[in-house]
Amino acid sequence: MLLRRLGPVFALLILFAAPSVGAQDVDTSDVYRQTTPSRDGIGKVYMGREISRVMGHRGAAWLERPERARNEKPSLLVDSMALSPDAVVADLGAGTGYFTFRIAPRVPDGRVFAVDIQPEMLDIMRDTIAAQGIDNVTPVKGTVRDPALPADSVDAALMVDAYHEFSHPREMMRNLRAALVPGGRVYLVEYRKEDPDIPIKPLHKMTEAQAKKEMRAVGLEWVATEEMLPRQHFMIFQKPSGPEEGN
Ligand SMILES: C[S@@+](CC[C@H](N)C(=O)[O-])C[C@H]1O[C@@H](n2cnc3c(N)ncnc32)[C@H](O)[C@@H]1O
Repeated sequence: MLLRRLGPVFALLILFAAPSVGAQDVDTSDVYRQTTPSRDGIGKVYMGREISRVMGHRGAAWLERPERARNEKPSLLVDSMALSPDAVVADLGAGTGYFTFRIAPRVPDGRVFAVDIQPEMLDIMRDTIAAQGIDNVTPVKGTVRDPALPADSVDAALMVDAYHEFSHPREMMRNLRAALVPGGRVYLVEYRKEDPDIPIKPLHKMTEAQAKKEMRAVGLEWVATEEMLPRQHFMIFQKPSGPEEGN
């Protein structure tokens, strides 16, 4: 893998010089439906699920709240990704980098692309990179349709508490699939909607069945769902090694 052998400067050069896979144009006009927005939603319905509003950067401190360690067990989550030291990882909807900076030490010979659409979140991550002298994290400004990653470059993609906010999930996931290497994995972590006792707003939760349906629609195969986290599904999907499918 070329990206992982190159240093940070060259990785950046490749990232910006290589055409993003988002160049794919797909007609998705028939996959979304508009309705009256509910309290936390944008009124856009995808495969029966109303998409939630994006958590604004003013909530950044909430992402770093100390009780996350107890409620979300981030070390166990990252352990469960079983990353090789040279893995290229994408953290989609990285926010402040809560998971990015826990993954980075696990991939000393690899790289973490920390993708977000809010420039303020990227600034927070840049500050952490500078303060801690981290050399294997690259913040990436994505768009609502495209994580802006080079084709066939990512071994593992993580989305924690982010996918349900994507305003264009079909486009995003198609483009992510193209950015994955064949056999590359997607780790989708969402609060369990099946459990009404989990104190999170409904649109910020997902059922396993819904997640499987949406990933299948973009040609990602379900591998396993692990329930070791206190409140979240840990769902593993992969890009098939054979010819591309899905729409
Ligand atoms: C609730 S935060 C979670 C952040 C982080 N994953 C964590 O667990 O701490 C969701 C993040 O997803 C980002 N986001 C929403 N839509 C996005 C999109 N289409 N592409 C990339 N990031 C997106 C938001 O800007 C926000 O920073």
